[in-house]
Amino acid sequence: MDLFEYQARDVFEAKGVPVLGGAVATTPEEARTAAEKLGGKVVVKAQVKIGGRGKAGGVKLAENPDDAFEKAKAILGMDIKGHLVRKVMIAQAAPIESEYYLAILLDRAARSFLVMASEAGGMDIEEVAHKTPEKLARVHVNANQGLDKSKAIEIVKKGAFPEDVVNDVADVLVTLWKTFQESDATLVEVNPLVKTKDGRIIALDGKVTLDDNAAFRHPDHESLIDHAATNPLEALAKEKDLNYVKLEGEVGVIGNGAGLVMSTLDVVAYAGEKYGVKPANFLDIGGGASAQVMADGLSIILGDPAVRSVFVNVFGGITACDAVANGIVQALEMLGDKATKPLVVRLDGNNVLEGRRILNEANHPLVTQLDTMDGAAARAAELAANR
Ligand SMILES: Nc1ncnc2c1ncn2[C@@H]1O[C@H](COP(=O)(O)OP(=O)(O)OP(=O)(O)O)[C@@H](O)[C@H]1O
Ligand SMILES: [Mg+2]
Repeated sequence: MDLFEYQARDVFEAKGVPVLGGAVATTPEEARTAAEKLGGKVVVKAQVKIGGRGKAGGVKLAENPDDAFEKAKAILGMDIKGHLVRKVMIAQAAPIESEYYLAILLDRAARSFLVMASEAGGMDIEEVAHKTPEKLARVHVNANQGLDKSKAIEIVKKGAFPEDVVNDVADVLVTLWKTFQESDATLVEVNPLVKTKDGRIIALDGKVTLDDNAAFRHPDHESLIDHAATNPLEALAKEKDLNYVKLEGEVGVIGNGAGLVMSTLDVVAYAGEKYGVKPANFLDIGGGASAQVMADGLSIILGDPAVRSVFVNVFGGITACDAVANGIVQALEMLGDKATKPLVVRLDGNNVLEGRRILNEANHPLVTQLDTMDGAAARAAELAANR
């Protein structure tokens, strides 16, 4: 999960990374009140989970609370690269002397953590990496050894920081490492880290990505979820422990096993070309596809108003086809009137004949059975096109 800048600021503050006062606002009035509380000049910053806000006009200096009102009014509702600005952060304005760059991230390719540091921060760090790579230190840090002060000093020096800030920046880097580890983050980035005219080192902009796989260790991270941006069907699926991703099409897809569902999406997309329809979702109901899981999956897919037909593609393994067939029959009973869209079912694998027999016998008016994946995908696409 990516955090908003104001959330990253809160995390930084809690962990001891030096930051300035800041508050989030969703209306110009709130922005004015926040600016009054902070006092002095402030910066009004668009809160969107995408880079390059400054260049897009999403970061503006305000001279006083009334100005903060005006700037917030201009920024709220802006579209930055497809991201609607719903919130702004009001931050104290810093008298900047220099802008630096620090980051810690999970480097999957290297199976290690990577620390990056540069005295040339503030602008596109990609450009620094490209044009003046000698100004960007890239140092791997072993998870077991961690990052202590002496290693931090070494990295900061390598990043060409001026001698007089090395010690303070190294302190910030050690604190960032602690933040990275304790929060189970996969990215902690500060750009810019600034030196102020009075010699303080402060993190002015933060990006934090938390590892969702570690969410169980951090019940407090729950409150950081941006519900306004979460698709309601995806949220419901998450509640039911289902692997569901909403897509833009009309053919609902249910399968067992991520690989099978991925290839089902391909086959449906291919078959759908002829009719101008596409897969509506990814949904993997996993190995033990019980009637309850099938019912939960079906009700989520049928709850998507864009869905016009559903393709249930199951390869019987440890959970044999007869169990899945019974699951489908019971799920349809459980759903009753809520099941309103045609279902194309393709069963194969363990105990397939018994599975098909069960579905034939149930003879549900919404269910069509086909033996092949291609044939079933074509029928599901056709049904979606004709409704
Ligand atoms: N609190 C502040 N006080 C003074 N200047 C600031 C403050 N926050 C940001 N700035 C200035 O605005 C520039 C852009 O801000 P920031 O880094 O937060 O946004 P950005 O880099 O454009 O966005 P992103 O990091 O999402 O790409 C900074 O490099 C800095 O010069
Ligand atoms: Mg930035």
